[in-house]
Amino acid sequence: MTPTTIITAPMNQSTPPNFSKLAAQLSTPIMIGGNSIPNRLWLAPMAGLTHIAFRQVLDHYGSCGLVFTEMCSAKAVPSENPRISPVFRWQNWELPNLVCQLAGSEPEELVIAAERVEREGFFGVDINMGCSARGMTKREAGAALLKTPDKAVAIVKAIRKAVSIPVFIKFRTGWSKDIEPAVALAKKLEAAGADCLVFHPRVAPDKRTRPPMIDHIRFIKEAVSIPVFGNGNVTTQQHCQKMLDTTGCDGVSVGRMAVARPWIFAQWTTGYTPDDNIFQDYVLRLATALEQEFDPSRGIKRFRLFMSYFAANFKFGHSLQATFATAKTMEDVRRLAKEHIRPNMDLSLSPNMNLYNL
Ligand SMILES: Cc1cc2nc3c(=O)[nH]c(=O)nc-3n(C[C@H](O)[C@H](O)[C@H](O)COP(=O)(O)O)c2cc1C
Repeated sequence: MTPTTIITAPMNQSTPPNFSKLAAQLSTPIMIGGNSIPNRLWLAPMAGLTHIAFRQVLDHYGSCGLVFTEMCSAKAVPSENPRISPVFRWQNWELPNLVCQLAGSEPEELVIAAERVEREGFFGVDINMGCSARGMTKREAGAALLKTPDKAVAIVKAIRKAVSIPVFIKFRTGWSKDIEPAVALAKKLEAAGADCLVFHPRVAPDKRTRPPMIDHIRFIKEAVSIPVFGNGNVTTQQHCQKMLDTTGCDGVSVGRMAVARPWIFAQWTTGYTPDDNIFQDYVLRLATALEQEFDPSRGIKRFRLFMSYFAANFKFGHSLQATFATAKTMEDVRRLAKEHIRPNMDLSLSPNMNLYNL
């Protein structure tokens, strides 16, 4: 879908001089597992954030090359009812560019889940080998798989054998700063049949407090011949260009900034200029989508999580967040949005990391 928001004055975010270079690079289609993806700027999977309601709003602003669901438990997926599941849920129009992320640790379990993902018509399946939250690692899933590379490879081999849709792996550096284990694993994942690697260059126990080790992406890119996407702290066009230029990665996966400003996909790939009132427009659209998709209590919970990332846009984000924390219903959200989110609010060029590091 193309962006439909009315264009007026540009926002106070500087446009880099080499914008057309970045747009051209990002807008070059890429083949993944024999399928063409229209651009190289993708949405990263994020639990509690990249849900069906957010994705609907993302689509409104347009130009995201490939969209990832939040992680879905491989154990639960085979019996999930998409009509009531808060996570394993989509609209049919999304499927051609939607990848379902699975989290699990047992090859058999992941295979059954991946088979369902394929049957439902998703573009691809992504295996979470990056989440280091305790709840995941104690079940030997997520980043814990980086400690058991043979198991990680067995999972990919088994899934590759079972499905013909593209298989993605999202992984990170590992449990120590040494990049060698991740490079060795990347080669094995390619040999096992992965179609694309999305690499987040951070050590596992580090949530997102220290900067990512961007140079590490280059080592992964040079180790394999399948596409490698870089991820981590890309919040401006300059960051994006730097990641592409310095690592040679094939494209960029954006997480938190995509939630803060979902129109960056159109802005960075097509030169779309957002309206100054786009922030209010965004919150109103998201409130409506959350209301349609979730029961009131889950909807407001998801709105609160969203608000941390959204508020990080502004110089006075903490006070905006506190204002919205009083909202008990989506009607409150709409009223507060009309009162407090106005054109020409002072933007941080890059999001406020104190709010951003949840
Ligand atoms: C709230 C939140 C939830 C996340 N959930 C997931 C997840 O479900 N699966 C995953 O692979 N990564 C998850 N991540 C990590 C992101 O995909 C991404 O790697 C990380 O945020 C760094 O990218 P960014 O700096 O562009 O946000 C999550 C990140 C955040 C902030």
